[in-house]
Amino acid sequence: MHLEKVIIGVPCEIMPGEKRVAVIPDTIEKMVASGARVLIESGAGEGAYIGDEKYIEKGAELLSDVREIYSQANIILKVKEPRYHEGLEKHEAELFPENSVLISFLHPAHSVNHEGLKILARRGITSFTLDGIPRISRAQQMDALTSMSTVAGYKAVIFAANHLGRFIPMMPTSFGIINPAQFLVVGTGVAGLQSIATAKRLGAKVKTIDIRPEANEQARSLGAENIEFDVPQDLAVGEGGYARRLPDEWYERERKLLNPHIEQSDAIILTALIPGEVAPTIIDENMITRMKKGSVIIDVAVDQGGNCSLTRCGEEYQYKGVTISGIMNVPATLPVDATNMFAHSLNNFFAYVVKDNTVNTDTSDEIIQSTMVTHKGSIVHQGTLQAMEME
Ligand code: NAI
Repeated sequence: MHLEKVIIGVPCEIMPGEKRVAVIPDTIEKMVASGARVLIESGAGEGAYIGDEKYIEKGAELLSDVREIYSQANIILKVKEPRYHEGLEKHEAELFPENSVLISFLHPAHSVNHEGLKILARRGITSFTLDGIPRISRAQQMDALTSMSTVAGYKAVIFAANHLGRFIPMMPTSFGIINPAQFLVVGTGVAGLQSIATAKRLGAKVKTIDIRPEANEQARSLGAENIEFDVPQDLAVGEGGYARRLPDEWYERERKLLNPHIEQSDAIILTALIPGEVAPTIIDENMITRMKKGSVIIDVAVDQGGNCSLTRCGEEYQYKGVTISGIMNVPATLPVDATNMFAHSLNNFFAYVVKDNTVNTDTSDEIIQSTMVTHKGSIVHQGTLQAMEME
């Protein structure tokens, strides 16, 4: 692979609380070995405890003014979507070099990001979103969303443990047995399965619900008890085996089915998603009023709108004795391992897209088609265009 004409720019992440960074010394080494120059903003790895010197050792060039990076780079690598840069008083999308390439999580269906996408398109930037990587075996090594979901599922249980005023495992004491905490995991895709595994390791009893039979089977294999929900499979599962949005009456049935389980739960972890769409509302106010005081809801789906009607984005608060956590961007709270996994996935995607000084924009390739968001002055991503039409 020849990348002599490639100049990669890696700025510090500017989203509040974001501690991850797009590259690690190992991936820089590979890029430099291919002939690319890598310009990195000083301090970019600090949140993940990677010092500037570690990057320099592997051949990166350190720049303290990010504007110098933007004046030279032709490919920008980031973790999170562009946003307004307070220090430079400009949207990041206005700062990236014209006609350059951007690879990052862009969450392009989310309306808050549409302004940034329009700027990227206007400025001729070809952007790829890592949350669009298709779930196919040849893309597994690039699948940053899956590795970040693993982090989110794990960390959600740790957050819940922190909020609970009681033990999670069964605890024998001199005055009798304390029963284990009861967890309910709603949605058992990658994040939900990791929540089950983590809660089981801590000794919890775990119940789960999902609308895909495959997900239910995987939850059972981890020792969880499935709550049977007899939603017809042609309604629940769409193309590629992904979950579909259900007609409203089925969400109503799901709420009724969950009510007795909610009353018994100490912690509820919400991870139900529909790919590329806003998350379904599954837990409503009426259900929360039935929950035990001291119980906790961790709404991992919050970045896609949340599964609980009372979740407040980015906040943790109490409602009638129940803690509701809407902490956003959970993977950023485990920056060391999350950065390591993210950087490897990003590097594999980068190596797939950029070969011999050329960027692959061939949309007959499923991976390119589902990840490319802006190109040649237009927004080209189907899910984004649909979401924009609905605004
Ligand atoms: P996701 O994050 O899109 O959704 C999470 C879960 O929510 C899914 O299991 C979904 O069925 C469930 N859900 C949706 N509506 C629900 C409702 N009303 N009630 C309860 N649950 C509901 O899912 P994720 O983690 O992206 O996995 C999707 C599929 O992709 C899975 O089959 C997974 O095994 C597969 N996958 C394949 C990979 C690969 O081959 N590279 C990598 C990662 C996942």
